[in-house]
Amino acid sequence: MSKKPLNIAIAGIGTVGTGVVEIIQTQGELLSQRAGRPINIVAVSSRNQNKSRSVDLGGFTWYNNPVDIASDPSVDVVVELIGGADGVAYELCEKALKNGKHFVTANKALIARHGASLAKLAEENNVTIAFEAAVAGGIPIIKALKEGLSSNNISRISGILNGTCNFMLTAMAETGRDFDTILKEAQELGYAESDPSFDIDGVDAAHKLAILTSIAFGTKVDFESIYIEGIRNISLTDIKFARELGYKIKLLGICSNENGIFEQRVCPCLIPEEYPVARVDGVNNALFIQGEPIGKLVMEGPGAGKGATASAVIADIMDIARGCFSYAFNIPSSLLKKQDFVDITQHEGEYYLRILAEDKAGVLAGVTDILKDENISVSSVLQKSTAKGENAHIIVITHETFEQSIIKAVEKIEKIASVIKRPNVIRIESL
Ligand code: HSE
Repeated sequence: MSKKPLNIAIAGIGTVGTGVVEIIQTQGELLSQRAGRPINIVAVSSRNQNKSRSVDLGGFTWYNNPVDIASDPSVDVVVELIGGADGVAYELCEKALKNGKHFVTANKALIARHGASLAKLAEENNVTIAFEAAVAGGIPIIKALKEGLSSNNISRISGILNGTCNFMLTAMAETGRDFDTILKEAQELGYAESDPSFDIDGVDAAHKLAILTSIAFGTKVDFESIYIEGIRNISLTDIKFARELGYKIKLLGICSNENGIFEQRVCPCLIPEEYPVARVDGVNNALFIQGEPIGKLVMEGPGAGKGATASAVIADIMDIARGCFSYAFNIPSSLLKKQDFVDITQHEGEYYLRILAEDKAGVLAGVTDILKDENISVSSVLQKSTAKGENAHIIVITHETFEQSIIKAVEKIEKIASVIKRPNVIRIESL
């Protein structure tokens, strides 16, 4: 092989960084054959040089300050696995691009917050910024959208984008254990981010969704406009009722363009249990893509973890080694549109309402009167007494209606004297 090697430097040798080193060290020959040139690690940086690791970093130049990697003339590609939207990761990215180095990252927060300006900077310096590993771990969704689906007009992507939440919702449903117990287990298993609120409050999924929206619709990446609702309010009671009604509850990230009306949201949803995405359980991620001419497409796989994420990082490195460069968000950054997304109050769909009330005459009639007043048509109603018998859960499934009507109805229902607490509302998603 006569071609010049591609020299990479890795900033951040944690779980994923170790995975990347391992793959390059053990699969080097195969990667070289497939890329047509050797891929060499030349430099690394991490917080602690003396930490015991499963890989030998002895042969690489060590940088205490990761940002210095960007000035190393031997480095062609900087691989950033530090994390965080700002600070060192941002500084390293900006400097690497300005110094004419390609930049590969798994950092969804960085790309969700600064993606548009960093893509512009990469174009100005004739280098690439690539982030397959930032969305859905090992599922090659970014490549699928930019390459295999490049002729498609995408109308909608619905994704299970957070493995921790999917693990928790699945485990609650399967074991009947409560939210806090399952969260602890997710943390012990290493699924949850160091700050679990990023996972359970939907922020991690929203970072990923912001990136997908931009690539799918040619819009400027816009994290701020995403409606985000996590899974803290999902109780075992909701999971059980949903199952009884033929649904599963999943945290979905959804972006859509329906006749020029753009929407992006992350929220728990009831999905009919027979749908493929409803059957994606545990820590896995899944993407359900609708486009023209492809129709409907489902991708499922590991959304996090050492091997899956390292696999995606290497895929980007391989593209650079082969000289396959594409625009970060599918089109030149100057063509990315600043898009208005509809407010969640304009959302139209079916809803699940759970109302906890005293079990006495007239309560159900009071609820249905309010729904009638708000022009909300009911599809089905289920009432179950609580274990002690004095209260009841009233479950209402509505036909399609506007969120604004649901908000008004919930405000009024909450004020009925016999209603014990604010009704729980979950959107129903027909994929
Ligand atoms: N903590 C994330 C998840 C993985 O649970 O899916 C990294 O984005």
